[in-house]
Amino acid sequence: MDISGNALVVGGGSGIGKACALLFAKEGAAGVMVADIRIDAAADVVAECKAVATNHQFHAEAIQVDITREDSVRGLVGRMVHVFNRMDYCINCAGIGVQKAVDIAGMPLVEFQRFLDINTVGMFLVTREASIAMRAQEPRVVSKSSPGRGTTRGAIVNLGSGSSMIATPGVLPYTASKHAALGLSKNSALDNASHGIRVNCVCPSWTDTPMVRAAMSGVEGLAELIDAAVPIGRIAMAEEIADAVIFLCSPRSSYVTGCGFLVDGGTTLTALR
Ligand SMILES: NC(=O)c1ccc[n+]([C@@H]2O[C@H](COP(=O)([O-])OP(=O)(O)OC[C@H]3O[C@@H](n4cnc5c(N)ncnc54)[C@H](O)[C@@H]3O)[C@@H](O)[C@H]2O)c1
Repeated sequence: MDISGNALVVGGGSGIGKACALLFAKEGAAGVMVADIRIDAAADVVAECKAVATNHQFHAEAIQVDITREDSVRGLVGRMVHVFNRMDYCINCAGIGVQKAVDIAGMPLVEFQRFLDINTVGMFLVTREASIAMRAQEPRVVSKSSPGRGTTRGAIVNLGSGSSMIATPGVLPYTASKHAALGLSKNSALDNASHGIRVNCVCPSWTDTPMVRAAMSGVEGLAELIDAAVPIGRIAMAEEIADAVIFLCSPRSSYVTGCGFLVDGGTTLTALR
């Protein structure tokens, strides 16, 4: 995929973020910074990245961040630029999912705010700080073998969801936060286009990660329900979502910006299932 720069993976301690960090290392990235609220998990992923890295100069670091705090996110991006000199890819995988469906009439305000704080405000802060840092760096040729692709200052990929496109009963805060994730990705793509920064939003449906396993353990029959609801007939592997993320960072997607890239096994194609 021609991945040779430095990646910041936020929420890289688990699930889709962990799969992204490992794939960057395997695909030849020069550096990966794994950021998570759980520093122990981030440190474990860094060790795994070092074991699979293919770039001889590979460097990786773990850092703690709470994406809901402005000072924490500023510190994270400052550290990224200090350690690696340049941030070529920024991936926003930190987030929370629904553990129990609740109808709007019984939805506590505090729960709605919790989803917006982490999934939306956190994503805004990371996208904003990444935009500032990328705008300050020199543009680079996207592909020496295909000069018509122009130059780039970086690529940002945010994790939306099938819930960025459709609604599901009982998960209003998640749906609202993920529609916002797509909206903020589109608008920041527009604001950043003339600066040579692409922003895209990957939208998976159910993916086999600790977030979904936690939900499955609380709801009997959910695993079977997921298999039945997905036209492809199975839950996604985290690696399949990471493939889309790495594509959106690579020169192969040099003309793609502001898109909501569904990776959902056909789940959102029909309501008649
Ligand atoms: N797994 C799915 O089925 C699925 C489907 C669609 C979208 N997504 C989205 O993909 C993203 C990753 O999901 P996942 O399934 O890999 O989840 P996960 O729970 O496995 O990983 C999320 C990571 O984010 C971290 N995190 C949570 N709050 C944080 C904070 N305030 N600051 C920093 N880090 C924080 C967690 O510690 C965890 O390591 C989320 O945005 C999720 O909504 C997941």
